[in-house]
Amino acid sequence: MSIQQLKETFISKFGESHHPERVFNAPGRVNLIGEHIDYNGGYVLPAALEFGTTLIIRERDDDKIHFVSGNISFEATLDLDDIGKEKTGEWVDYPIGVLVELSKIGCKLTKGYDLYFYGEIPNGAGLSSSASLEVVTAYAILTLEGKETDTVEIARLSQRAENQYVGVNSGIMDQFAVANGKQDHAILLMCDTLEYKHVPFRTGSYKLVIGNTNKRRGLVDSAYNERRHQCEVALDILKQEIPSLEYLAHLKPEQFETLQTHIQDETVRRRAQHVIEENQRVLDSVEALSKNDLETFGQFMNQSHDSLRDLYEVSCTELDVMVEEAQKIPGTLGARMTGAGFGGCTVSLVHEDSVEQFVQQVGDHYKARTGIEGEFYVCGVGDGVKELKEEI
Ligand code: GLA
Repeated sequence: MSIQQLKETFISKFGESHHPERVFNAPGRVNLIGEHIDYNGGYVLPAALEFGTTLIIRERDDDKIHFVSGNISFEATLDLDDIGKEKTGEWVDYPIGVLVELSKIGCKLTKGYDLYFYGEIPNGAGLSSSASLEVVTAYAILTLEGKETDTVEIARLSQRAENQYVGVNSGIMDQFAVANGKQDHAILLMCDTLEYKHVPFRTGSYKLVIGNTNKRRGLVDSAYNERRHQCEVALDILKQEIPSLEYLAHLKPEQFETLQTHIQDETVRRRAQHVIEENQRVLDSVEALSKNDLETFGQFMNQSHDSLRDLYEVSCTELDVMVEEAQKIPGTLGARMTGAGFGGCTVSLVHEDSVEQFVQQVGDHYKARTGIEGEFYVCGVGDGVKELKEEI
């Protein structure tokens, strides 16, 4: 959908006005490596996608706020005074949660707005459609209210909106990637301090291929919370040995090697092992990428998937089948599940000459083995949230 078409839909919905329409966009994200690490205080390596959520927004002369989603056909109207009074359990809770958090940091709306969202990220696919929606709302409102748009602060307040208003206990990675992405760069984020660095992600003749299993992420909330809890249990045990240990991911694999016997529960021990080794894999991946060693990076991707399947147990048959089929293609350097797990997407690094074969063969075999039609997106790395001025 072009910006022009979206603007036409906006005008047909809300009519003409003497206020200008402004257009903003926030991407989705793919996590390259470092899964289930953000809430354990370690390193993650996500990247912003080239597609996301577009928001057309315009000031009103009254104190009404209209939310319309073009892609999920949802509409809601509120008085400014009613913002945050009642949770609806609907899509609109995401932007409203952001408005609630904005008012807590001194950005209470001074006027009404019309907001038209158009999301291109498939919902529930683990590509952060919700983070994209939150971040674009926060960035646009701060801009129109004449406030500073600090993208680290925007990531934090969007995460608070999701945790506290929507009620999903996610970490900071998704909102951070969506707010701070940079074209052709991955983001190395240290999740405890939020220090970050853009790492050049030059893949030359290799392409990122995202595979959507089209398996809705069942169980994800309860299993996610259970994993978080198991990590806290592991941390508490290890703290008895190293009282200064603040986060599980701060432990080095060598330290864990000697300390792991203190964790009696086998499941909790395996969860901790994943976190500590995955964190190290992120650092090793960044080193490999800095040398343009995509083969080694691909191997880390494969190891990451094995660990998420066997130690952290957040994969599922559909993700495993798609990854297995992806790894069989000769031009594939690495493949893994990405995001929270239990469905959603895989990410693979595939030679451009093999992409066609990849899409065909992985798609066919995946369908034959699971009965589900997968979808594939060959995708570059885009920018984080921004106002689109030039395109209009
Ligand atoms: C979801 C959460 C993130 C992160 C990933 C797993 O995407 O929103 O905060 O924990 O799962 O890496």
